[in-house]
Amino acid sequence: MRCLRFAGVAAVVPWLCVLALAPVHAGSVPVRASLGLVVSQSDLASDVGFAVIKDGGNAIDAAVATAFALAVTHPTAGNIGGGGFLVYRPEHGEPVAYDFRETAPAGSHPEMWLKDGVYDKELHHNSHRAVGVPGSVAGLHLAWREHGSKPWADLVAPAIRLARDGFEVTHGLARSLAAQIPHFRKYPASLAQFTRAGDPYRAGDILRQPDLARSLERIAEQGPAGFYEGETALLLEKEMAAHGGLITRADLKAYVAKKRAVVRGTYRGYDVISMPPPSSGGIALVQMLNVLEGFDLAANGYGSAQNLHLIAETMRRAFADRARHLGDPDFAADLPAARLVAKDYAAELRRTIHPQRASRSEPTSFAWPAESQETTHLSVVDARRNAVALTTTLEAGYGSRIVAPGTGFLLNNEMGDFNAGPGLTDAEGLIGTAPNLAAPGKRMLSSMTPTILAKDGRLFMVTGSPGGRTIINTVLMTILNVVDFGMNAQEAVDGGRIHHQWLPDRINVERYGFSADTLAALRARGHTVNETGSQGVAEVIVLDPKTNLLEGGLDRRAPDGGASGK
Ligand code: DON
Repeated sequence: MRCLRFAGVAAVVPWLCVLALAPVHAGSVPVRASLGLVVSQSDLASDVGFAVIKDGGNAIDAAVATAFALAVTHPTAGNIGGGGFLVYRPEHGEPVAYDFRETAPAGSHPEMWLKDGVYDKELHHNSHRAVGVPGSVAGLHLAWREHGSKPWADLVAPAIRLARDGFEVTHGLARSLAAQIPHFRKYPASLAQFTRAGDPYRAGDILRQPDLARSLERIAEQGPAGFYEGETALLLEKEMAAHGGLITRADLKAYVAKKRAVVRGTYRGYDVISMPPPSSGGIALVQMLNVLEGFDLAANGYGSAQNLHLIAETMRRAFADRARHLGDPDFAADLPAARLVAKDYAAELRRTIHPQRASRSEPTSFAWPAESQETTHLSVVDARRNAVALTTTLEAGYGSRIVAPGTGFLLNNEMGDFNAGPGLTDAEGLIGTAPNLAAPGKRMLSSMTPTILAKDGRLFMVTGSPGGRTIINTVLMTILNVVDFGMNAQEAVDGGRIHHQWLPDRINVERYGFSADTLAALRARGHTVNETGSQGVAEVIVLDPKTNLLEGGLDRRAPDGGASGK
C-alpha cells in the first residue's frame, strides 16, 4: 500500500514502484528510532518514558511513567484526577484494553443537573458535581500489574521529581496557565498551585508542585491505596462535602479499573485494534473504516473533494449510530456492538451514500456542543515492538479547575460527558437519550480512541488524539493517510482534518487544511462547510516493516510535544 503514491506512474512503468524503496515523501520527515519511541504532548514526559525503555523497561512501563509525568508537566490534560483508556498490543500474545474511565459517584441520578426541573449547565460542567470518581491511578496500576516489568515506584519516581524539584515553564504552558487564572480564582488551592501568588507564571520560571509530589509519593509507596484510601481520599471527601460535591471515600474505595476485550476490525488487510465502550471510539472507527473500504480513496486522490464527501458522509452515519446506541456497556442491555462493526452493516450504510450529493441529518433539532482539544494521547513502542496507545483526560482543559487543598492535582469534570437529563434533547445542544444518562457507578460515554494497527501478525501503527468527538475522526484520518495514501507518520499527522458528527449537519474543516476550490466543490455537493481552527493533536508511530524502524509523527498543532527515541 505504501507504493500507492506512485500508482499512476507505476501502472505505466511498474518497476518504478519497486525501485522506490520507500515512497518519495513530499512532506515532513518523521523522527526515526530503533530501540523504542515515545510520542506525547510533553517532551519532558516523552523523555521520561524513553528513559524507561533505555533502561530495559517495556512499553507498559514506559506508558505508565509517561502518563504520571504528564500529570505534572501537562496539567491541562495529563492527570491523576481524571481517567482514560489504554490499548496494549504485545508483539506476542493477545491485545487487551484497560478502561479507567471515571465513574458517577453513588449519589448520582439522571436528573442530578436539574434545579427545580430546569437544567443547570454550570452544575453539569463546572462544579463539584461535575467531578467523576477518578480512574487513572487504578488503571495505570492494573496495566502495570498485568504487564509491567519495572518496579512500580520507579515508574512514578520521575513524576515525583518533576513535581518536587520543578521544571521550566514553556511559552505554551505559560500562555495556557495565564488563560485559566480567572477560573482558578474560584479555587484557592488551584490558584496557589498554578500562579505565583495570583500572577501568571512566565516562560522560564520554575513550576514546583509540592502537594502533587506528596500525592504521587503516596501512590508510589502504596499503589492505588495511596490514592483511593488514606490521606488523599480524606482530602477529596472533605473538599466535596464542603462544596456540594458527591464523591465520598466509599466511592473512591469502590473504584475499579476494568480490563476489556478490544474492538477489532480490518481495513484493507490491516488489523484494527481499538477501545470498546464505554468509549464510542473503537466502534465508530471500525464502522467508518468498514464503510470506506468500499471506496477507492487512493484513486480519488488525497484531499480531493470526492474523498472528503465520502468520508464526511461516512462520519455522519457512524455518529448517528453513536448517539443512538452507545453508553456504558455494564449498564446497557442492548448495545449492538457486533452489528455496528459488521462488514455487511457497513455495506448497507455505504449503499445509502450518494456519490455526489450530501444527505441530511435528522432530527434537525439535535445538536452537539463545541469541542476543545483538552485531552492528551501518548503512543509508545518498545524494543520488542510491544505497543501502547493511551488517551487520558480531565474532560475540559484543566478539568473542573478544582484542586482539593493539600492534594496538588486537578479534578476532572467528566460528569459533563453524561447526557444532560432524560428527554432533554434540544436545538441548543442538550442531549437526553437514554444510554448515556447518569447512574451510580456508571461510566460516561467517551470518544477517546487509542488505536493500534497490525499487519500479518506484526505491529504497524499506533495512533490517538484528544479533541472530544473529533478524536474519532482525527484518528480515522491518520489511518487513511498512512494506509490509503502511503504517508509517513509525520505527514499523516500534518495532513488537514475534517469532522462531521451527524448533528449539527455540517463539515468542520481545518483552516488552511484544504484549498478553497476543494471546499467549493464540497459545497456544490450540498454540504455546509465550516472552517475551524486546528482539530486534535495526534501522536502517531508507524513501524516500517522492511527496516523494523519506528517512525514518530508529532503533532505541532500543540506546543511542547516530544518524540523521544533512539
Ligand atoms: O472522553 C471524552 O470523549 C471527552 N471527555 C474528551 C474530552 C476532550 O477530548 C476535550 N474536549 N472536549
